[in-house]
Amino acid sequence: MKTQKVVTLTQFISEQQTLYPDASGDLTRIFMDIILAAKIVNRDVRKAGLVDILGTHGTTNIQGEDVKKLDVMANEEFMSALSLGGDCCAILSEENDDIVRVHNPNNSKPKYIVAMDPLDGSSNIDVNASIGTIFSIFRRRSMAWNEVTMEDCLQKGINQIAAGYIIYGSSTMLVYTTGQGVNGFTLDSSIGEFCLSHPDIKIPKDGNIFSVNEGNFAEFPQGVKDFVTYCKETDKETGRPYSARYIGSLIADFHRNLLKGGIFIYPHTAKAPNGKLRLMYECNPMAFIIEQAGGKATTGSKRILEVTPEQLHQRVPFFVGSENMVNKAEALYKAKIQIGMSN
Ligand code: AHG
Ligand code: MN
Ligand code: MN
Repeated sequence: MKTQKVVTLTQFISEQQTLYPDASGDLTRIFMDIILAAKIVNRDVRKAGLVDILGTHGTTNIQGEDVKKLDVMANEEFMSALSLGGDCCAILSEENDDIVRVHNPNNSKPKYIVAMDPLDGSSNIDVNASIGTIFSIFRRRSMAWNEVTMEDCLQKGINQIAAGYIIYGSSTMLVYTTGQGVNGFTLDSSIGEFCLSHPDIKIPKDGNIFSVNEGNFAEFPQGVKDFVTYCKETDKETGRPYSARYIGSLIADFHRNLLKGGIFIYPHTAKAPNGKLRLMYECNPMAFIIEQAGGKATTGSKRILEVTPEQLHQRVPFFVGSENMVNKAEALYKAKIQIGMSN
């Protein structure tokens, strides 16, 4: 029988750190905090179906404890793991209005800022479909002994040091990059460890899946309508029609397309003039990962990683996936913009 050495996420991260002898270890410790919170949230997610038995949100369960919504709980778990860890100087969360500054008397100079969407796909919690957590890490710009400023936080995605996500699906996986490719780790709950299961993930240049909320079709920009129509046309040479797959959790749609090849689009619409997805918590981290896996992420006309954020909760249109598919969608989108048919 052929056996393979199991590499745990902890071993993998420690080995990576030895490549940088001058590293302070802060980034490694931030990862450890994220991993710990992910395991706790994973445990809570796996109990989500029992909420009706144990008590619903806003009530008390049979143990007399307050029951919180899973997205609120996930936010609290990540916030507390990262602030107690004290190795980042600030946390930005989709669930918090403002910057949360971290003060740690034992580490007066933490230089990293963590941005996150603690629970992505929250509408899928109650229906037992995949949900996840997204995170992005970057370095502050100002001197470490001063208070973190808004300018420190509003940085382009290109400045990310690391980004990743945890998907709570049929199994629980953590996928991340530090700018040297993308690796995926599956949680073996019997030993409580994430184990390297998907080394050096590369997205196929072409795919045959398109993921878009077609319920909004009437409101799509004309170029996106053209692309959706293109995906549904029959053409043997390019393997069309493509398959439509859309679950409504960015992470789940993204993860499938990353492994199989495909495109995800959330364009701007009349109702959502900047799209729906958040630049700092959703698009930047996914864009970093997809580029590291050989794919592409744009707003339809601009590379996501080069968009300068103006607000923490800023939204952007999002085209992400296999390079050739994104190029095609972008070409159709831009063609209609150029002749003034943006909607
Ligand atoms: P969140 O649960 O963090 O608010 O994010 C939901 C997002 C994203 O995960 C998904 O791709 C998108 O909303 C789905 O939006 P529609 O329901 O409008 O298709
Ligand atoms: Mn989200
Ligand atoms: Mn969310």
